[in-house]
Amino acid sequence: MEFEPTIVGFLCNWCSYTGADLAGTARLKHRPNLRPIRVMCSGRVDPTFVLKAFAAGADGVLVCGCHPGDCHYIEGNYKTIRRFELLKELVSAYGIDERRVRLEWVSASEGERFALLVDEMTAELKALGPCELAPALADQGTDLDRLAAEAQAATTADPEVTHG
Ligand code: FES
Repeated sequence: MEFEPTIVGFLCNWCSYTGADLAGTARLKHRPNLRPIRVMCSGRVDPTFVLKAFAAGADGVLVCGCHPGDCHYIEGNYKTIRRFELLKELVSAYGIDERRVRLEWVSASEGERFALLVDEMTAELKALGPCELAPALADQGTDLDRLAAEAQAATTADPEVTHG
């Protein structure tokens, strides 16, 4: 059977989740491989959530937020940009190919862009094959439902407006 990758998408509430929703309501076709997790801001995606997503069986992780300059919390996504380089180093340290993590901006009106992004990432991950986990991660025993609940609970309260 052909390998179908699992992608965990941390989508910010104000833009990307709405963009994903638009893709759904507009019946734009895209690959069914993405498991969305709604967070208040891309800047609230703790790197441990990304590691837990891999531990829970993700083959790739997409962090998606408002375009730079459009973050609901002013500069949350600039924080995401700075953090993302460190995130790639972190996943590499666990033996995960850094091409498996991706940071993208999708606005509330970009349903089509979201659909294309899911298709593109699915194809890339298919080419990479299943994610092999380092034992330190494989032993965490978490699952995607638990991770979604944890990430949503941790980010439900509106973060304060941040300035860097
Ligand atoms: Fe969308 Fe901050 S609210 S990235």
